[in-house]
Amino acid sequence: MAKHILIIVTGGIAAYKMCDVCSKLSKLDYEIKVVMTKHASEFVGKASFEALTHNKVHVDEFKSSEYDIPHISLADWADMVLVAPATANIIAKMRSGIADDLASTVLLATVAPVFVAPAMNVHMLEHPSTQENIAVLQERGVQIIDSEFGHLACGYNGKGKLASVETMVSTVHDFQSKKSSLATKDFDGLTILITAGPTYEKIDPVRFIGNRSSGKMGLALAKAALSRGAKVDLVLGPVSVPIIGHENLRVLPVESALDMLQACLSHFERSDICIGAAAVSDLRPAESAQQKLKKGKDDMSSISLVENPDIIATLAREKHEGQYMVGFAAETEHVEEYAQKKRVNKSLDMIVANKVGGTKEVFGADNNTASIITKSGTTQLPELSKDELAHKILDAILQERC
Ligand code: PMT
Repeated sequence: MAKHILIIVTGGIAAYKMCDVCSKLSKLDYEIKVVMTKHASEFVGKASFEALTHNKVHVDEFKSSEYDIPHISLADWADMVLVAPATANIIAKMRSGIADDLASTVLLATVAPVFVAPAMNVHMLEHPSTQENIAVLQERGVQIIDSEFGHLACGYNGKGKLASVETMVSTVHDFQSKKSSLATKDFDGLTILITAGPTYEKIDPVRFIGNRSSGKMGLALAKAALSRGAKVDLVLGPVSVPIIGHENLRVLPVESALDMLQACLSHFERSDICIGAAAVSDLRPAESAQQKLKKGKDDMSSISLVENPDIIATLAREKHEGQYMVGFAAETEHVEEYAQKKRVNKSLDMIVANKVGGTKEVFGADNNTASIITKSGTTQLPELSKDELAHKILDAILQERC
């Protein structure tokens, strides 16, 4: 999952260097948002940052069409914050808790790790106030990316130059890498059976009944579970999204609902958790023609259909003590109510309800807005990337299993 870094650019000649920082971090797969103070925007235009980050740049405004309360949304969104170049002024505000513009307010509101790269005139940096402010921030856990010696824009030689782009990028990236490698493997020892993608129900060798599931939701679950130490059996309908390779991943490609049921039944026994993210066709043609049906020759005005078995409900009937069953519900109306009924009727421990067929597409999209429903209650989630939603679902499973 891409890590979110919020870069706060304050007024200094070195602000332009932050374009290079954005470019390098984005190549390392960070999602970047930028807040600029009014003074910073006099040194470098926000259009440069918007082009590099593909995100709106916030310049000191408190009202935005995208966010109701921008300082809180941005503060919560950030996994880490980099303040660079950091002026003596922003450092003093951070130390004192002054919140009189967007940048300082976000810094007061965030609980994410904060990195500060000071850049200023040598005397301002050496001034006891600045030195004391920096020391207090360090004591509070803020990480200072030290300024460098050199020729300063103000004409002086001495300490106060913004750290190099490479130093800033490697400091935040090393921190993130260490954090990720220490991330808990909370699914270690667990095996998860996941169904994903559509099923294709053959009418003849070239035609089928199917749907628009891309498999992205199921794959996001598989990726999240693998990153947390699980073994995954992924029963995957016909999809075109790229499949990740992983030593703990077994991919079982299938085409129809009957194939999917067989694959699930063969791997269900060894699973601790089963998640049905696939969009399984409820119906299939009673017969599929061996040869392509011909207009004018074959009767194509009607196809008789039979019901497919309900895979997740079949597995839930066979489940043994300790196995945890999760379904998805794709509903167009009364989403949570219908999903709750499905959870009970199919004997599932949890159901993830998502609204389909509305203005926001779910099939094939990268984002989803869902509610997690268990017997203990309903948790409504905001719109998240499918990767983020997958982690929320796994968090909820762990919490409910114990
Ligand atoms: O693949 P994406 O493009 O990322 O889209 C994700 C998604 C919309 C497919 C996914 O989020 C989702 O909602 N999957 C379930 C879709 C669905 O078929 O929902 P349903 O309400 O019809 O079925 C309820 C549950 O029963 C599901 O867990 C389904 O997998 C299961 N089912 C349904 C019918 C059947 N014959 N067998 C089943 O196991």
